[in-house]
Amino acid sequence: MNKNLQSLWSKNILIEDGELYCSGISASALAAEFKTPTFFLDEDDFRTRATNWNSELSKAFGPQAGHVYYAAKAFICIEVARWIAELGIGIDVCTGGELAVALKGGIKAENIEVHGNNKSMEEIEQAVSVGVGAIVMDSLFEIERVATAAKKAGKVQKVLLRLTPGINAHTHESIATAHEDVKFGFSIASGAAWQAIIETKKHASLELRGVHSHIGSQIFDTEPFATAADRLIELLSKFYSEFGVQLPELDLGGGYGIAYLEGESEIQASDVLATLATVVNQSCAKHSLKIPKISIEPGRAIVGPSMFTLYTVGTTKSVTLENGSTRNYVSVDGGMSDNLRTALYDAEYTAIIANRESSAKNVSTRIVGKHCETGDIIIKDIALPADITPDDLLATPATGAYGRSMATNYNHISRPPVVAIKDAKARVILRRESIEDLLRLDI
Ligand code: LLP
Repeated sequence: MNKNLQSLWSKNILIEDGELYCSGISASALAAEFKTPTFFLDEDDFRTRATNWNSELSKAFGPQAGHVYYAAKAFICIEVARWIAELGIGIDVCTGGELAVALKGGIKAENIEVHGNNKSMEEIEQAVSVGVGAIVMDSLFEIERVATAAKKAGKVQKVLLRLTPGINAHTHESIATAHEDVKFGFSIASGAAWQAIIETKKHASLELRGVHSHIGSQIFDTEPFATAADRLIELLSKFYSEFGVQLPELDLGGGYGIAYLEGESEIQASDVLATLATVVNQSCAKHSLKIPKISIEPGRAIVGPSMFTLYTVGTTKSVTLENGSTRNYVSVDGGMSDNLRTALYDAEYTAIIANRESSAKNVSTRIVGKHCETGDIIIKDIALPADITPDDLLATPATGAYGRSMATNYNHISRPPVVAIKDAKARVILRRESIEDLLRLDI
């Protein structure tokens, strides 16, 4: 495989004579056994990535390495939660549903961190009662609610405060989270963060462990992460001067960018964490603080590149555009219900014919789904062979993060299964929805 392409596919993918293989199993065999559309998850790749973030965190921060909390929102199911439990890393959940999956997969409550800007009282009570490691609080109302729930349960709940460090990270507007005009967090600049600290300290049922920020998603530049860390540490310093004790934890969130297109490369855990370690060390030294425990929450960077989606082509259609050129519309058997990211964020993907070689010339192609909507586009414009035909298989790399997890039932389409592949064996870990599943909720 050429080097540019290699960075897009998980480690056990091989493309030979035009056929894609995952751990030795051909795309044709996978499609025959599991049907399409299906998400295929390279288990070994997932485990390697998770382990790598964990060991790089240890390398960068030594004894001050806190948790890698895998961001469940990127993709979670019970089997993946079991892998997380086995690997001994933590998990970040942001709803009661994600918490239920994590617990069912055997992740220890103390390794679970609970997020969310509007947790319900039931979600808070559940988190407190199972004994989660930390609840990250996001509003003054929530400070009261968590304090009340903990008091009622007769517990002291460990908490962090989600802060907004006022950073406009370079990414799509809908996934940037740390500038001032967002729903998340307490602003440092406005004084809201300090007020939240004061409010939290009033409650004997809350143990304030530290502060958190997540600056956004799909970020490649290490600088905004470093600036956020610096601003958070400044606040830790204010806390120390005011109260004479130090908050022991700092959680710097996720957001590490991955490659979606040829020629792009993912941010390296070793690079970004080494930069963060330098900034944290310098900033703590400047304020005469001990280094707090540093945690991170990568989601996309662990699961994104580990999965690809396999589709079957149903129809093709050549359309003449206003400027006289033509575009080949290739309709596959999935669409915006299994990949919302193109419609939602103008995300870009690539795809290959996965079942055969083609020597036809490349033409301007649009990969679309089967939904009744013009915006049902998986890839807006890609150069693919002109001879794509019904029953060809198309594979889209790097669909592991926010693909299946944001899948919908639009047009009453069943959400695709996830099939894990390891050591030349493929097994369903999340099954395809059936028509019965789709009708189950109707009264
Ligand atoms: N921590 C917190 C508090 C978060 O809100 C998120 C993502 C993460 C960690 C993980 O970020 P990651 O490492 O996966 O970038 N649906 C969008 C992404 C939204 C992310 C929301 N929060 C997408 O498909 O790009």
